[in-house]
Order: sequence, then structure tokens, then C-alpha cells
Amino acid sequence: MANSLLEMDDLRISFFTPAGEVKAVNGMSCALNQGEVLGIVGESGSGKSVSVTALMKLLVRPGKVVGGGIKFDGRDILAMSSKEMRGVRGKDISMIFQDPMTSLNPVFTIGNQLIETIRTHTGMPKKEAADRGVKMLAQVGINNPEKRMKQFPHELSGGMRQRVMIAMALSCSPKLLIADEPTTSLDVTIQAQILDLIKKMRDETGAAVILITHDLGIVSEICDRIMIMYAGRIVESGSVDDIYYSTAHPYTKGLLGCLPGSSKGVRAPLKAIEGNPVDLLDMPKGCGFASRCGECMKICLRENPPSFPIGEGHVSACWKHVPVNASEVRP
Ligand SMILES: Nc1ncnc2c1ncn2[C@@H]1O[C@H](COP(=O)(O)OP(=O)(O)OP(=O)(O)O)[C@@H](O)[C@H]1O
Ligand SMILES: [Mg+2]
Repeated sequence: MANSLLEMDDLRISFFTPAGEVKAVNGMSCALNQGEVLGIVGESGSGKSVSVTALMKLLVRPGKVVGGGIKFDGRDILAMSSKEMRGVRGKDISMIFQDPMTSLNPVFTIGNQLIETIRTHTGMPKKEAADRGVKMLAQVGINNPEKRMKQFPHELSGGMRQRVMIAMALSCSPKLLIADEPTTSLDVTIQAQILDLIKKMRDETGAAVILITHDLGIVSEICDRIMIMYAGRIVESGSVDDIYYSTAHPYTKGLLGCLPGSSKGVRAPLKAIEGNPVDLLDMPKGCGFASRCGECMKICLRENPPSFPIGEGHVSACWKHVPVNASEVRP
């Protein structure tokens, strides 16, 4: 993985709360290449946002990285000073969030914010930054961009605000764009447009993308690779085809069972996976998914499974991939 843009190695993150240590990320390792689109999927609370927050070095108390490392473009993120990191954030790594209203400042115009972002990272004169801002808005499909520059965030629709965020995030040509549930607050048609836009931007700029979502349906469209997270661990990762057609991990199978089926063109409601997520304050000794798993064996309760290679670039952390365990009597 010598040429990886991003490498996370056994990353561990805990929140030290009055109730105890919440182990939110429990040994996450992954690598991302230039221009690659990686989807991170997992149910609520599985550690998706916390891990990218650590990558942006925006984790605040009581959260703390308690182990492992993050390397971006050959640099050790965790060792960087706040000042060094400010130079990376927004320039080399940009992030768009679920709700653009939380990231756009309501008292400044779109133009103000866009120009400011561009100038901070490029030092461009104001006029040039304004031209670039207009160009970026047009590029993300916003009509009448000159007029939009003069408008305030509340004057724009949700989909348009998310487009502005994407324009802002891409205005300094980052090497990595992180999109944390960028379409959750939007309706289905706008969701599809935003995902198309992210894909188009990746093709045009060559930026790598991390797309976080609850929804496996969304990632299949635009991702090269998918990582499935459960209880702060990656339980399966592989290409879109690996995940869909050679599904290995019982949790992934559960998630795929949750995909909305289409009967007569109507989206059926999501089926939930039975059982409750693990208590991160009291992580089980074995596999985190064991208590909800229909294929659980004795060893699953005793030991957390490592990642087993299933095929080229396809890994799954499940004891059933070791044939000898198959003979174990289920508890
Ligand atoms: N400030 C906090 N204090 C204590 N625990 C926290 C805090 N923030 C996050 N956590 C813990 O970290 C876990 C992972 O949170 P994270 O926000 O990464 O989940 P997520 O996978 O992004 O979920 P969602 O899909 O709902 O956004 C949560 O289950 C929660 O227990
Ligand atoms: Mg989240």
C-alpha cells in the first residue's frame, strides 16, 4: 500500500464518559488510493462519523484516539499540530455533512463564504476568488450562480445548499472529499442528483471520496469499494460486486436483506436486523455481532474474529471462514 493516499492502521477511539469508557472505534484499518471512492456503511452508532472526525482531527473531549495511526499523503495526521492541520483541512481534505445548515453560516452570503474559503487556502485576490466561486457554483449545477452568490443560505433549497457545500468543499481541489451522509436530509430525486454530482466531481478532479451512509443501495451506484462497519470494527470490505454477489459476513447479509425491495415500483419499508447493537461501554469478548447472528458458533462468543481473506481485495471478519470452526456445535 505504498502509494495509498490514506492509511488507517488499527485505529481505536474511546469516549471517556462518567458512565465509563465508550469504545466507539475498535481497531479500524483501511487504505484508500488516489481517486478511489470508498463507501462506509453501517447502522447508527457503528463509528462511521467518529472515525472520519478523527481523520480530520476534529475529535473533541471526551473523545480520544487511544491507539493506532492515520497517515494521509505520507504525513502522520495524529502527530500534526493544530496549525499544520488547519492547512490540511479544507485544502487537502474537505468534508460535507448531512445537514448543510450546520456548516453554512446563516449571517453571511453564499458568495462571502465561498470566497473566504477559497482565499484562505489559495491566497487568491478577492476578484479572482469570486470568479472561481461563480465557476464552482455553475459546475455543481446551480443556475444563475452570480445571483446565488449574493443570497443567504436560508434563501436556497436543501438540495441547493448541499450543492453549495460540495462547491465549497471542492473549491480548493482537495485530494480527499469526505461526505458524511450527504443526502439523508434530501428527497430521493435530489439524493440521486447529489450522488451523480459527487461522482462527476471525482471524475473531473481525481479526488478520492469517502462516502458514509446507512444505505447500501446508495453506495452501489458510485463506490469502487465498500467497507461494512459494526460496533467500531470493519466486518467486511470488498468491491461492490464482492459485497453484493459474494456476500461473506452475516451482518452484511442482514443489511442486504434490509434493502428496500421494489414491489410494483413501490419502495417497501426497511426491515431491521433483529436484536440490539452491542453496548460499547461493555464490549463483548467475542464477535460484536454474535448475539444477533443466525450463524453464531461457540468460538464467536469467546474470541473476536480477525479479518480473513475471501478473495482478491475481499475480506470478512467471521469465524465461519475457518472450516474447522464449522464443526463447532452452536451454542
Ligand atoms: N460525545 C460522545 N460521548 C460519548 N459517546 C459518544 C460521543 N460521540 C459518539 N459516541 C459514541 O460513538 C459511537 C459511534 O458514533 P458515530 O457518530 O461515529 O456513529 P455513526 O456510525 O456515525 O452513526 P450515525 O449513522 O447515527 O451517524 C456511538 O455509538 C456513541 O456511543
Ligand atoms: Mg454519523
